[in-house]
Amino acid sequence: MKNQRITIFDTTLRDGEQCPGASMNLREKLEVARQLARLKVDVIEAGFPVISEGDYAAVHTIANEIRGPIIAGLARCVPRDIEAAGKAIQPAGKKGRIHVFLATSKIHREFKLGKAEDEIVRLAVKGVTQAKSFTDDVEFSPEDGSRTEPDFLVRVCQEVVAAGATTVNIPDTVGWAVPSEFEDLIRHLHDSVPAFKSGKALISVHCHNDLGLAVANSLAAIRAGARQVECTINGIGERAGNAALEEIVMALKTRADAFKGFKTGIKTKEIVKTSRLVSRMSGLGVQRSKAIVGENAFAHSSGIHQDGILKKRETYEIVDPQEVGWGQTELPLTKHSGRAAVAARLKHLGFKMSDEDVSAIFARFKEIGDKKKFVYDDDLSALVDGQLTEVSETWSLEYVSVTTGNQSIPTATVRLSRSKPNKKKENLEDAGVGDGPVDAALKAIDRLTKTHGILKDYNLRAVSQGKDALGEVVVKVDFGKGDWITGRGASTDIIVASARAYLNAVNRFLASPTRKKASKKAI
Ligand code: KIV
Ligand code: ZN
Repeated sequence: MKNQRITIFDTTLRDGEQCPGASMNLREKLEVARQLARLKVDVIEAGFPVISEGDYAAVHTIANEIRGPIIAGLARCVPRDIEAAGKAIQPAGKKGRIHVFLATSKIHREFKLGKAEDEIVRLAVKGVTQAKSFTDDVEFSPEDGSRTEPDFLVRVCQEVVAAGATTVNIPDTVGWAVPSEFEDLIRHLHDSVPAFKSGKALISVHCHNDLGLAVANSLAAIRAGARQVECTINGIGERAGNAALEEIVMALKTRADAFKGFKTGIKTKEIVKTSRLVSRMSGLGVQRSKAIVGENAFAHSSGIHQDGILKKRETYEIVDPQEVGWGQTELPLTKHSGRAAVAARLKHLGFKMSDEDVSAIFARFKEIGDKKKFVYDDDLSALVDGQLTEVSETWSLEYVSVTTGNQSIPTATVRLSRSKPNKKKENLEDAGVGDGPVDAALKAIDRLTKTHGILKDYNLRAVSQGKDALGEVVVKVDFGKGDWITGRGASTDIIVASARAYLNAVNRFLASPTRKKASKKAI
């Protein structure tokens, strides 16, 4: 096994985005893809093109605009899926990959697909052959690979490699595997399929975290011969998520003594920035104690630890926080900072913004600059998020005013403006009562916009430090049409931030194309 380079295949925009409420719009996906390229992942799985117009557009746009990583599109072994993926990745040229998958385990064969082994092999080979007509770079995944009979799995691997697959990815689809067993399985495949041993085809793994073992299983697989790992930023993904990219990369780097010679091409200083961007774009917060990227990952509260760190950092800190990008904040901006300074800081933060966007963000910056002494990078990023999530806005918040207290019924008066193409902007006002001022404001918004959303999740956090910190609200709303919709809003006033976030979800809902749910279920 001479090849010690581990290919990092990032599936944040596909498997990560598949978890409820994590959907991102095209601009958000593009921003994440740009940052993944800066992080220097090897492959970006940008979506599942056949699933919806939105997914197709995301893969196509990312294939068109992002240079560096390979851009992959997912497809079932179904002709129209493969055709959609083939067309979507086309702008990436030689850097386009089609990732086809088909379940192989007994339980999936019998109960989900109703197909015998021979038929599975036939369909897998047919899928790979069709994918090869679009690109040389074809990956095949035997879904539920870890629960597939090892000998049948060997047969599938051999056949798809013979049909032209250059990577075979073994998914632990339901997070069933344990490290020792998974290591044995990967070694068995490595030793039984000549193309794996010779390096003609690569073994990849894709581990889910249902038992909290996704990273451990991925690392065990590397020891056994896997040379690609599929993972997501912050470990987001279906159910308990996927293996976390930052944990795999830093385990290989920090414990190079245990993982002799294995290297990734990841620019680790970009890790924290990427984690924050994905968290904001997906609306999925990062657990404080999460390894590498959690707020507390490098916070030492005990006196003994602090004392040790001051004497020698390595006593209690095995990773240098700066190595993964902590502590790189710049001097904050203030209300006196001009447009050019804001534009320069946005560029420094990695955002690619049009002049129009910068003007909109600058206007919001001035608003909060009047209320806050300092505007930190995180504040600015929160304003950018608002701008990115802005759909061709139907409804805007003009004002919200609340009366509340422990002796009165919370009441909110809300004024919204509605813009319609080629029509004059109109203002509408209504009031609502509720269990609290936020509930009252959201009820008024429902009445004005004639939508009825059920709040599934509400998250408020201080974006930066100090009593005048900007509050950012992230909501997940069920409008009864499938996916939960994420909305975000920021303000120094948390009622205003809540109303903005909810309205943002309403606007996204009104603008969202209806998703084809059937294909998503088939994964
Ligand atoms: O978990 C899984 O099996 C997948 C495949 C599509 C690779 O996501
Ligand atoms: Zn998966």
